Amino acid sequence: MKLAILISGRGSNMLALADAVRDGRIAGAEVAVVISDRASAAGLALAAARGIEALAIERHGGRTREEHEREMLEALRTRGVELVCLAGFMRLLSPQFVAAYRGRILNIHPSLLPAFPGLDAQQQAIAHGVKWSGCTVHFVDETLDGGPIITQHIVPVRDEDTAEILAARILVEEHQAYPAAVALVVSGNYKVFGRRIVRKTLQGIKEAIENTFDVS
Ligand code: GAR
Repeated sequence: MKLAILISGRGSNMLALADAVRDGRIAGAEVAVVISDRASAAGLALAAARGIEALAIERHGGRTREEHEREMLEALRTRGVELVCLAGFMRLLSPQFVAAYRGRILNIHPSLLPAFPGLDAQQQAIAHGVKWSGCTVHFVDETLDGGPIITQHIVPVRDEDTAEILAARILVEEHQAYPAAVALVVSGNYKVFGRRIVRKTLQGIKEAIENTFDVS
């Protein structure tokens, strides 16, 4: 399965995914292209240094969101991309873009969604006084950070935390959670029940139990 990774900056999650593909932890996948909406994104050079095609597709010159997204979609289609992984990509995708890759766009967010969507999630968590936070990998739909959840990892929020310290603690978990979630999606070993993403193996057990016992 050909993956595209969309970034806007540092690209550490992009590298975690690229490493997992290289090491076979995301079996049957290939990173076809890394695209940034900022030419200055450090992650672009990191991708290129690993021999991955790295493209800057900026929304400059007063272009509309539609024009910008059309160019990105064209780049994805010409490379046969089947799964789009947002990794610190700081733009909202239009409903048209989401429709073009429905069920095939993933995002990672540095909070336990549905808590603290949007910007500065780690600062939002500290300001709210939560004692646990973490990261969420989810499918992207038309809502802000609101699509079905694939996996979540948790970390403690400590009294002395700043947003930066908490972000660093969460980032360690992001680098574990995202490759694992992409591996699951690439394997196809899951089912979608409304908002619930259920591993097929668990579903199989559930069906077996329901077939064995009368659970009605
Ligand atoms: C990550 O913490 C990611 O969860 C966050 O941006 C950072 C990107 O870091 N994404 C969002 O906040 C999206 N709403 P990276 O460029 O090193 O992967």
